[in-house]
Amino acid sequence: MTFKGRDIVSIRDFTKEDLLHVLKVSKEMEEDKPQLLASKILATLFFEPSTRTRLSFESAMCRLGGKIIGFSDEKVSSVKKGETIWDTAKMAERYSDVIVIRSPIEGSARLAAEATSVPVINGGDGANQHPTQTLLDLYTIQKAKKNIDGLKIGFLGDLKYGRTVHSLAIALSHWKVDLYFIAPDALQMPDHYLKDLQEVGIKCYQTDDVFVVSKNLDILYVTRIQQERFPDPMEYEKYKNAYRLDQSLLSHIKDDMKIMHPLPRVGEISPELDETKHAIYFEQAGNGVTVRKALLALVLGKVE
Ligand code: CP
Repeated sequence: MTFKGRDIVSIRDFTKEDLLHVLKVSKEMEEDKPQLLASKILATLFFEPSTRTRLSFESAMCRLGGKIIGFSDEKVSSVKKGETIWDTAKMAERYSDVIVIRSPIEGSARLAAEATSVPVINGGDGANQHPTQTLLDLYTIQKAKKNIDGLKIGFLGDLKYGRTVHSLAIALSHWKVDLYFIAPDALQMPDHYLKDLQEVGIKCYQTDDVFVVSKNLDILYVTRIQQERFPDPMEYEKYKNAYRLDQSLLSHIKDDMKIMHPLPRVGEISPELDETKHAIYFEQAGNGVTVRKALLALVLGKVE
């Protein structure tokens, strides 16, 4: 198995062995390696807002001794003047050794990967995929629960447009897990994902009521209702306050249940839960640096 030169575009491109290897290298990256990527340059092409993905990639590169170029807003790139993502990626490969791209357009990371010969990492493409978020989610679950096999994991919120949910559910299908999809009907997990999961033997349950299933869960993965993904603003207004988790949840969950969230949150988890033993979402975001250090080192061939 080698990751050297590899694009990280979709979690569907990963075998279980690949996933386990990234988790193992991530553990090694908990140690300081301040010169590992000295002289390497990361280009961050962000056509959509981001705090965690961009900053944690940049932090990871800095912590490994590398350098960063890039932009965080489409308006300051020449895409604003009409340049294509294809041409932008072809420029970036001449200026850098590895590219991270985020775009609202599904398939844009795959397109950039086809345009270039340096590794391209998908930092999120529309409602499609967010594979590096999935890898840090798996790392967080493994740290919190040791074994992924046997877990009952609930996904709550915008499951229709939620790329973090789509990627993580597919990755989890390599283990023996039960998945609970908790959302209003209009925001439920798309049928084609359910079909893929059920085909490999994953038990899937669907409900709109978190309290009906919360006692079963080992992990509750909460997501934001994403205003920017709704074609109709009235639909967003209808669902934006669908879930507001607060202290009242605590009497409906197992003592060791953990709450995760890819963040940002916009009210679906009350800050009063932050200091409980259940909340691990800030730790989860912090794990992004560790896992992205591993991915950068792997695709640049500095670790095997
Ligand atoms: N989790 C995540 O992708 O966060 P950002 O949108 O802030 O990068």
